Amino acid sequence: MKKILTALFVTTTARACTDILVTPGASVEGSAMMAYNADSPTLFGSIYHYPPYNNDDETKMRSIYDWDSGIYLGQIPEESKETYNVVGNSNEYGLVIGESTFGGVRVLAYNQTDAKIDYGSLIWLTLQRAKTVKEAIHTMVHLMDTYGYASAGESFSLADATGQMWMMEVIGRGNDIIDDKTGERKLGAVWVAQRIPDGMVAAHANQARITTFPRQDPENCLYSEDVVEVAVHYGLYDAEADPLAFSFADVYDPLDFIGARQGEARVWSIFSQISSDPQFAQQYQDYALGNNLELRMPLYMQTKHKLTKEDVMHLMTSHYENTVMDASQDVGSGLFASPYRPRPLVWSLEESTQNNNEEDPMLRSKEKQSKSTTQYHNERSIATAKTGWSFVAEIRPHMPRELAVVSWYAMDDSSTAPRVPVYGSSRKIAEPFAGKGSQDGVTTSLLQMDWSKAFWVQNLVSNWCYSRYADVYPVLRQEIDDLQADLSEKVKQVDRIALELYQEKGPDAAIDYVTLFGVNTGNTVHGKWQSLFGTLFARFRDFYTIVPKNDEPVCGCQAVEPGMSEAVKHRIVQETGDHYKVAKGDKDHPDLLNGENAKESEREVFISGKKEDVGDIFTAIL
Ligand SMILES: *[C@@H]1O[C@H](CO)[C@@H](O)[C@H](O)[C@H]1NC(C)=O
Repeated sequence: MKKILTALFVTTTARACTDILVTPGASVEGSAMMAYNADSPTLFGSIYHYPPYNNDDETKMRSIYDWDSGIYLGQIPEESKETYNVVGNSNEYGLVIGESTFGGVRVLAYNQTDAKIDYGSLIWLTLQRAKTVKEAIHTMVHLMDTYGYASAGESFSLADATGQMWMMEVIGRGNDIIDDKTGERKLGAVWVAQRIPDGMVAAHANQARITTFPRQDPENCLYSEDVVEVAVHYGLYDAEADPLAFSFADVYDPLDFIGARQGEARVWSIFSQISSDPQFAQQYQDYALGNNLELRMPLYMQTKHKLTKEDVMHLMTSHYENTVMDASQDVGSGLFASPYRPRPLVWSLEESTQNNNEEDPMLRSKEKQSKSTTQYHNERSIATAKTGWSFVAEIRPHMPRELAVVSWYAMDDSSTAPRVPVYGSSRKIAEPFAGKGSQDGVTTSLLQMDWSKAFWVQNLVSNWCYSRYADVYPVLRQEIDDLQADLSEKVKQVDRIALELYQEKGPDAAIDYVTLFGVNTGNTVHGKWQSLFGTLFARFRDFYTIVPKNDEPVCGCQAVEPGMSEAVKHRIVQETGDHYKVAKGDKDHPDLLNGENAKESEREVFISGKKEDVGDIFTAIL
């Protein structure tokens, strides 16, 4: 069983994610803001809800399931007398936790026998038990060290209602560390947690980012005492080397090309859009490209201006637009300038060496068989098709703790899905968004489309957009931005009324009110997206763009032929030569880029009965 378990872990896809941490001093509203995309093709998008409960029996056991794989890991005691209300990745005290998986050195990733706590369960257990970042770090360390850490290297984002924001990086201790006092195997993880100074912005994306760290500054940096010792034990760090020069990221997650190009490049895309240093993008471009791994980017940076939540949402829509990594123009972008590519991210190309050695046919055939394989990759942008759910959370220190967190949830790709606001104290989640996850021991089928679920309808819209990206994305972007602006105004009103209720009638009345708002908004947005899919489907059907035209008796519409871009036409002709060339001697045919105009004028002639040669009409009708 153990063997099988280990084998299954190895083949399980870890979530690949992106996080942004904005401290209150870097935000227009004075709120902490956290963005988190949970990216996995097998993750069903839901907003998890764990209602609070009191617990008389602290020894009562509860089952733990691995969030990534759904595998049962074992049981642990309840421990707590009371738990807090958890909505998504936030709780009623204003604690918010996000993460991205960095994996790390092979010997310590997914390699603690009998470990019971995976990183997903760690998040939701901690949200049920902790009120502040400091408490959360304490709880996480307790859970990992007591019950074992079952996952790979992780970067966690933590924020609380006081506005503190921390990044915590952990990796398991493996199986070989023995406790001097007890003589027993030491479970759990080594870790470093660093506070992001107020006024700064940090980010992480599947690559460890904490390098060297201060040892005598517990206000701003905490770490496990054996963080260096464990590395020395596994031969990852020289016993003679200066422990103060120890870099967590370099030792436990050594950077390579893919780590930079597909992980750090996402951080670069965030930092370079908002940095106060106008040279930032240029300075670290080679690093992000994976060409200069020595030039590490800082853990956090100062922004050129304070950020709104819309700014943060915008950062999470990036497909590397206007950068050297923009993939929407090369041949892989297809006919519709798409930045999306099929997986896997890394692919190999077999290149056989052609040899036309006429003199020695034997040698020729032998060499024909010698093939070399070269690895290539696709860009990995922040916005990605496989996102299961994502949020941008506002954590507002100026609000009562029950109203502190508003998380803006999307159930798919952070560039093509709408976001609905949910308060951290909500007692109910709108049905289209509600659901349990694999961490609850629940399997959600991903083989049956369900119109009643936001995940499916948002995926429908996204996938329709992917199919004709250049035509659909601008329209969809506008829809999302308009919706966001509208909901933003609504949240301002709801805040005002909820605060009044809080002061006049107490927290319960305020919580009831924001719960109702969340449920109604969720239902409304879901309905909107159902009908938006219908609208987009009708409008972008059969490779036409159907636009309204009232005076058209046949359909009240016009079927516009969008044509192909000049770049695409050139590429086709380059690859196919004369194959599609219209024979010389034919009369001029209208450029179908303006097909609707051509059709229009020709039909007018046709209708008025003056057209002699109807051949051209058929060109347009074909
Ligand atoms: C996992 O840990 C065991 C025991 O410490 C070690 O022998 C093994 O090599 C590790 N696995 C990997 C893949 O490194």
